[in-house]
Amino acid sequence: MSSIGVLGAGTWGMALARMLANSGHDVAVWSALGYEIDDLSATRKHPKLPGVAFPESIAFTKDISDLCSGKEVIILAVPSPFIRATAKQALPFLNKDQILVSVAKGIEKGTHYTMTEIISDELKNAPELDGIRIAALSGPTHAEEVAIDMPTTIVSACDDPDAASKVQDIFSNTCMRVYRNPDIKGVELCGALKNIIALASGILTGLGYGDNTKAALITRGLTEITRLGIAMGCREKTFYGLAGIGDLIVTATSVHSRNNTCGRYIGQGLPAEEAVKKVGMVVEGINAIPAAMQLKDAYNVELPIIEAVDSVINRGTKPSDAVMSLMLRDKKDEIGFDII
Ligand SMILES: NC(=O)c1ccc[n+]([C@@H]2O[C@H](COP(=O)([O-])OP(=O)(O)OC[C@H]3O[C@@H](n4cnc5c(N)ncnc54)[C@H](O)[C@@H]3O)[C@@H](O)[C@H]2O)c1
Repeated sequence: MSSIGVLGAGTWGMALARMLANSGHDVAVWSALGYEIDDLSATRKHPKLPGVAFPESIAFTKDISDLCSGKEVIILAVPSPFIRATAKQALPFLNKDQILVSVAKGIEKGTHYTMTEIISDELKNAPELDGIRIAALSGPTHAEEVAIDMPTTIVSACDDPDAASKVQDIFSNTCMRVYRNPDIKGVELCGALKNIIALASGILTGLGYGDNTKAALITRGLTEITRLGIAMGCREKTFYGLAGIGDLIVTATSVHSRNNTCGRYIGQGLPAEEAVKKVGMVVEGINAIPAAMQLKDAYNVELPIIEAVDSVINRGTKPSDAVMSLMLRDKKDEIGFDII
């Protein structure tokens, strides 16, 4: 059994903390929000996971040094906009033998860094931690379902096979089946970009479109994500696996997805800012759009669906006009049977 620290007490951090504690691991949870730690330790419940009780064995702390010390594995489970600040805060208390596991999904605007790349970037400020292993854990995994032990699969991605296996062992149990993939960049790109396609999926629902349109979106959305990933040197197979098509299906079709929900509000006519406010949580698909658009230009690939979402969110295009522009766009990507 392992000692595990979880940074972040949102729905995903808490669903994982519960699962790992129930597997017999020694688990502690930290949050930047002090009141959250007070509430969780007093009630053993999370407001966004109704009916789920957290085992007494989970320790809660407001002290990040306490959280990091003596742990074999540190899970970074805050939403992507807080990953850099959280890594910076944890840095002085980490040690080289630990494995860091990012479960956040996003790409940083400007740097285009994935979550583990942001963590690596922060680690440059601590040469004594050189060689610390960093993994990404990603796949079709709604916290709401993991928190009630529904069978789920996930991918442990790391370029160090021993670390990937250790993470696989720790997270595996009767409800969670863990696969390994050395293509950490591909796995993380899938997790970040599928959120933009999920926004599009919600927009289609909000517009009242049906299953034909959604199937087209998911299929062509995957094509786009894959096209960019290949241009960036990722493995094509990653995109056809759990972290790719798996996560895209779950996010683009589920009521649990905040990206999908936000898109639905936009499709129904709410401006993006109001839609985000109504969701009341970080909508990572919206945050990922600027980096995706920059990557599109940097790698000179076509991302028509992501571009259409950008035009709706950031340039005021009416959702129905964006759909029409996709339907009528030049068909050159079909010439030569270029299905990718
Ligand atoms: N929820 C899921 O089903 C799920 C599944 C897989 C991956 N993820 C990923 O995990 C990450 C966390 O998702 P979530 O659903 O738990 O998010 P969430 O919105 O539930 O997380 C909110 C939590 O973030 C922390 N937080 C808030 N403000 C902060 C700040 N300024 N600095 C540091 N921490 C702060 C707090 O602990 C807060 O409870 C995201 O990147 C998400 O994409 C989520």
